[in-house]
Order: sequence, then structure tokens, then C-alpha cells
Amino acid sequence: MKTVKRKSVGTHFSMCVQPAFLVGTNNPDGSPNFAPITWISVTNEKDNDYLLVVSMFGTKTTKQNVKRTGKLSVNLVSTDMLGLMDYFGTHHAADEKKDGVPYSVCQGTAVDVPVLDASRWGYECEVAKAVETGDSTTFFCRIRNVQVDETVEVSDTFSIDLTKLDPVIYSGMYHSIGKRLGKIGDFSKP
Ligand SMILES: Cc1cc2nc3c(=O)[nH]c(=O)nc-3n(C[C@H](O)[C@H](O)[C@H](O)COP(=O)(O)O)c2cc1C
Repeated sequence: MKTVKRKSVGTHFSMCVQPAFLVGTNNPDGSPNFAPITWISVTNEKDNDYLLVVSMFGTKTTKQNVKRTGKLSVNLVSTDMLGLMDYFGTHHAADEKKDGVPYSVCQGTAVDVPVLDASRWGYECEVAKAVETGDSTTFFCRIRNVQVDETVEVSDTFSIDLTKLDPVIYSGMYHSIGKRLGKIGDFSKP
């Protein structure tokens, strides 16, 4: 490993390597709405009770829908869904109906939310807690169901081959991931 010579660049960078998700919600008229949200992480209450941590800023419709209903789907974006995500991210439900690109949805099986048929990994969630930080709201979301592409093997969290899910990674620009490198412990053996 080489030592990196670094420079200080200020504090205004939000660059963080983020997987891209499309968050699905119900509009007040019952129609589905989707928006890319990449400020997403996970935490754990106990045992296998995981919470998705989803942060949204401003007054966007998606955030208002989550506050009103307490329900959302969180759909992983694969590289073949990039056009869909880019469209949803550059159009606002408050300005227009977001039906300029073809896509299909189904209803969640555990939560009444729209789930994207194109997504290979989708969570159905209910908000357990919301924390306000200035213009942003961070939702701690209880996972009620996980829907996964049938062709993806999922024996446990540590077995999932991300190259099969082919996620879009965002950090200000869109990227894809490279190779599978190994599992925990593979690189610390003497
Ligand atoms: C790649 C990408 C990632 C985004 N991530 C977030 C995010 O994490 N949190 C957020 O509040 N907005 C995020 N946005 C902005 C919303 O997706 C965008 O404002 C969207 O148009 C909102 O849709 P709506 O008005 O229908 O809710 C992101 C946009 C893009 C393109």
C-alpha cells in the first residue's frame, strides 16, 4: 500500500460513495411517485431488526408523501434503470405528472406502496422515527418486506454478489461497480 500525499479542500464537499435507490410513495390522489434518493444507510435495533436510514432535504413531494403516509418503497437502481432514475430525478411531482418514461409498478405485499418492477432489490418500509436537521428530515424505516430478483442467490447478507445486482453508484456522478473482491476475513489471513 502506498502513502497518499493529501491536500485540504474545504468543508463543502458532500462526496460520499452512495448506492442509488428510487424511493416510491403514494401521492395524495393515490398515484405512484418515484424519486432518486441516495442518502441511504442502515442501522440495527437488535438481532435481525434492521432499519433503513433515509434522508431527504427540502419540500419535495416524495418527502411530503413519506411524512403524510409513513410508507415508502426503496428500490435499488441497476445500471439498466439509469434512464428511469435520471428522469425521476430531473422532474418534480409538484410541477408535472412524472409519466414521461415507460415503467411498471406493483403494490407491495406487506406495505401499501408502489414497488418498481424493474428493480432487482426492493424494500417495503414503514417509518419508525423521523429526525429533523435543518432543511433535512432523516427517516428511520422499519423493513417490512424485501423483494429480490428470483435469480439472485440470497442465503445471508454476506453472500450477496453485488455484481449480479449491478447497482448504480452515485457521488455527484453516476458510476457502476467493478469486480467482486472476496468476503470478510479473506484478506487478513496470515
Ligand atoms: C442521483 C440523485 C440522487 C438524489 N439523492 C437525493 C437524496 O438523497 N435526498 C434528497 O432529498 N434528494 C435527492 N435527490 C433529488 C430528488 O430525487 C429530486 O429532487 C426529485 O426530482 C424529487 O422528486 P419529487 O419532487 O417527485 O419528490 C437526488 C437526485 C438525483 C438525480
